[in-house]
Amino acid sequence: MDNAAQLVQEASFFDRWAEESKKRLQPIDPEVVERYRHSGKNYQKEYCINLLGSLEGKRILDVGCGEGEDAVLLAKLGAIVTGFDVSPGAIEVAKERARINGVSSRVDFVCSPLAAAKLGTNQFDVIWFDNILHHVLDELDFVMRKILSSAKPGATLICIEPANLNKPLRRIRFLVPVHTEVTPGERPLEKRDFAVIENLIPGLERRHFLFLGRLIRFIIPDYRYERAPWLRRRLADTISLIDRVVLTPPGLDTLGGFAVLSGTIP
Ligand SMILES: C[S@@+](CC[C@H](N)C(=O)[O-])C[C@H]1O[C@@H](n2cnc3c(N)ncnc32)[C@H](O)[C@@H]1O
Repeated sequence: MDNAAQLVQEASFFDRWAEESKKRLQPIDPEVVERYRHSGKNYQKEYCINLLGSLEGKRILDVGCGEGEDAVLLAKLGAIVTGFDVSPGAIEVAKERARINGVSSRVDFVCSPLAAAKLGTNQFDVIWFDNILHHVLDELDFVMRKILSSAKPGATLICIEPANLNKPLRRIRFLVPVHTEVTPGERPLEKRDFAVIENLIPGLERRHFLFLGRLIRFIIPDYRYERAPWLRRRLADTISLIDRVVLTPPGLDTLGGFAVLSGTIP
């Protein structure tokens, strides 16, 4: 499939999701904002927000922002966010999400493929990728160089991506009957993909998540952590803590199903 055809396919896949999301769109739960205001380090998005410190007035580029969940949360925490995505439907939902959350003046959403984005140079304090690079692995080096050129010197990079560093484990995971929907071109990042990113930004930190943490979906349906009963939250917290311990020693980190890359863009 050529690039243009793949973009059309990606956009229409996420447009269909957006149609469904539009029907359920609600203001963000204030408890979610409070949780991230006091982010810990054992859940991956909390870990990322914790790494960024105060977001007040920081300019963040949310690459492949989808329906704007991260962008609106980051804006609620004080950031000024630009998000872009190839799906017009997702961008429409993102704009509406910003409106109902009262942060439209702090966010800007643009519909564009990564490779064609017009971002300018020296613009952003943080470049934020959440679950997007695994959709563009065929052009990873080109896309990364282009986007990184929009960062201010010394800006922070955050990448949250699915990882496949242990092939036997991945085969076992596919035996667990969990419903997942994926686009045809996507796959988790492998060693060679991490090498492309780590080559562009030396000294990146890589932390792995979700070994046992994958089970949390059965403990807290829809991941509505803040609204889950106390006991279920404690169980999820314990699993996340075990993951942190298990995935820390070198060699065992390959058991994690997700990775967070973070560091300073030169
Ligand atoms: C799994 S979603 C993640 C969305 C968001 N970052 C989040 O974590 O909620 C992947 C997003 O990437 C977008 N996408 C896929 N390929 C893209 C491309 N080449 N250029 C721009 N966006 C793309 C899709 O439209 C979709 O919204």
